[in-house]
Amino acid sequence: MLSNSLIELDRAHLIHPVSSYRSHEATGVRVLKSGKGATLTDAAGRQLLDGFAGLWCVNAGYGQDSIVEAALRQLRELPYATGYFGLGSDPAIRLAARLAELAPGHLNHVYFTLGGSDAVDSTIRFIRYYYHAKGTPQRDQFISVGSGYHGSSTAGAGLTALPAFHAGFGVPYNWQHKIPSHYAYRNPAGPNPQAIIAASVAALRAKIAELGAERVAAFYAEPIQGSGGVLVPPRPG
Ligand SMILES: Cc1ncc(COP(=O)(O)O)c(C=O)c1O
Repeated sequence: MLSNSLIELDRAHLIHPVSSYRSHEATGVRVLKSGKGATLTDAAGRQLLDGFAGLWCVNAGYGQDSIVEAALRQLRELPYATGYFGLGSDPAIRLAARLAELAPGHLNHVYFTLGGSDAVDSTIRFIRYYYHAKGTPQRDQFISVGSGYHGSSTAGAGLTALPAFHAGFGVPYNWQHKIPSHYAYRNPAGPNPQAIIAASVAALRAKIAELGAERVAAFYAEPIQGSGGVLVPPRPG
């Protein structure tokens, strides 16, 4: 199929997330055709260095034969196995065990999800259910950090602290609270890293005191804020 017709089919039928619809309609889609290592090739034959690694998820690079072969083997043997109703499958069990081996400390149980937003929503469900089971269901308030990104599902977008994910979508919910980002540029605490850290800690303590410590269920923070601008936190002194 000619890429011109692909562009027209895209305009007519495909909804692109995190895009400006008007400018996408005017410019048309850039069709990616293939990938090898960190290089993508588009439909016009132009090569692109994929510094973004897909959406920060193609960590192994494109076109790794061992991954292609493992996927093909599994597709032939058993392409789908639910984990519901006590059922399981060899790869899921082994991957969970391997992840537990790699994860630090007591992080020994794995729950597979469809992606990051679904993972964040699952943590909210687990945390709320945990406090419900412990007899403290009033522990239902969640705190996250300004400029943070925790997904674009409804509950995750409410923890996300980027205005474009909120305006018109009815989030954040009233149980989702924010403290300011540690971003050093024009930080009200000034440029000094220790002052920024002290201000972040003070803001978190103040938010917990405002909500009541017995109401706070969880605090969400990215080690490095990603979609908010790749904001590296200040280094402790
Ligand atoms: C910290 C964080 N949480 C959640 C997500 C959402 O992941 P997904 O795009 O797989 O839904 C992302 C995606 O970049 C992320 O960086």
